[in-house]
Amino acid sequence: MKAIAITPGIKNSAKLIETRDPKVGDIKGGRGVLVEVLKAGACGTDREINDAEYGVAPAGSEHLILGHENFGRVVEVGPNVSELKPGDLVVATVRRPCGTSIYDLIGQQDFTTDNEYYEHGISRLHGFWAEYYAEDADFLIKIPPAIADIAVLLEPLSIIEKGIKQAEDIQRRLDIWRPKTAAVLGTGNVGLLTVLALRLRGMEVHGFGLELPEGYLNAGLCTDIGATYDSTQELSVTESVKKYGDYDLVFEATGYSPIMFEAMQTLNENGILILSSVTGGDRTTDGVPSDLINQQFVLGNRVMVGTVNANREHFEAGVRDLALAEAMYGGWLGRMITHRVKGLDNFAKIFEILENGGEHSAIKAIFEVAEI
Ligand code: BGC
Repeated sequence: MKAIAITPGIKNSAKLIETRDPKVGDIKGGRGVLVEVLKAGACGTDREINDAEYGVAPAGSEHLILGHENFGRVVEVGPNVSELKPGDLVVATVRRPCGTSIYDLIGQQDFTTDNEYYEHGISRLHGFWAEYYAEDADFLIKIPPAIADIAVLLEPLSIIEKGIKQAEDIQRRLDIWRPKTAAVLGTGNVGLLTVLALRLRGMEVHGFGLELPEGYLNAGLCTDIGATYDSTQELSVTESVKKYGDYDLVFEATGYSPIMFEAMQTLNENGILILSSVTGGDRTTDGVPSDLINQQFVLGNRVMVGTVNANREHFEAGVRDLALAEAMYGGWLGRMITHRVKGLDNFAKIFEILENGGEHSAIKAIFEVAEI
C-alpha cells in the first residue's frame, strides 16, 4: 500500500512510500480490525515532524508513517471483535498504553508519566497517512454515518473535550461550578473547535486571534455561532476584561506562550486556565507581573492546568458534540475544512498549505484518500 513517511531528524524528508499491506492478524488476541483510510487531517504537529523538530520512528524502522487525524471504514475484523463489522465507519485514537507507568497499565495513557510515549504518526508508532491500517478494536471509535463528512475533525476535538473534562473534574472541588463566560485564545483549528464546544455548553464565549476581523473566515465562524471575535491588534486579552468582565474559563490555543501570563490575569475568582499549546521553542518572557499573578491565584483560588492527548471517553464526548453541532449549527463544521487534497500522492500540497496557509487562510487541510 501507499503511505507518506518521514525520516526523523531530516528536514523535509516526507515522501510517498510503498509498504506492506497491514493485516487483521497483525493485532494479537483476535481483536484486529483492518481499516481503509477515507480521510486524514493535517496539523502543525505534522509540519513540525516534517521540519525535524519532533517525531520518533518505531523501533527497528528508519521511517515514521505520518498522520494522527483520521477517519476510515472497517474492511475486516478478527474473530474476537463483536462491536464492529465491515462497512462501519471509525476514527482511531492516537496514543497507546505501551509504557510502564501506572497510568498506561490502567488504560489512562494520556496521563502517562513516562518520558517516552507512543502516538500514531508522531512517536514510535506508524500513523494514518496510509491507505490502510490494522488496529485493536479497543482503540477504534464508531462513527454514526450522519457525521461522516466531518468526522475527520474528531481527533482535534478530542483534545478540547479532554481539556474541558479536566476543568470539570478539577472544579468538583467547588460543590457548585456554573461557568458562564469563557475566553478562547487562538482561533485556528483547535481554538475554533473550542469556541464551538463551549457554545454547545451554553457559555458566553469570546474568541481572540491575531488577524483583523474584516473578511476573516475564522472571525465569521465565531460570530455565526454567537461568540465574539476580537483581534489582539485591537484589544489585548488583559484589556478585554474591561469590556467583557473576568472569565470563568480561559482556553489557550495560540502556540504563543507569553500570552499565558496575560491569560492568568483575566480569570475570575475560582476560575480555570487550560493550556493546550505544545510550544517547542525556547522563548522567555520579561516583564511578567509575578507578584500580582501569584497573589491573584492565591487569594482567588484560581487554577491553571495543562492538557495533552485524549482517551476513548474524550473521543466519545467529541462524537456527541459533532452530532449536536450539526443539529444546532448545521454546516458550520464543514466550513472549517478549508482545504481538501485528493490522494496521498499530493502530500506536497498539504505541506505547502501548512506552511503558507494556501491561497486562503487554512483552518483545516485534509487528504481525501478514498471515496466514502
Ligand atoms: C495530537 C495529540 C498529541 C500531541 C503531542 C497533537 O497534535 O493531536 O494527540 O498527544 O500532538 O504529541
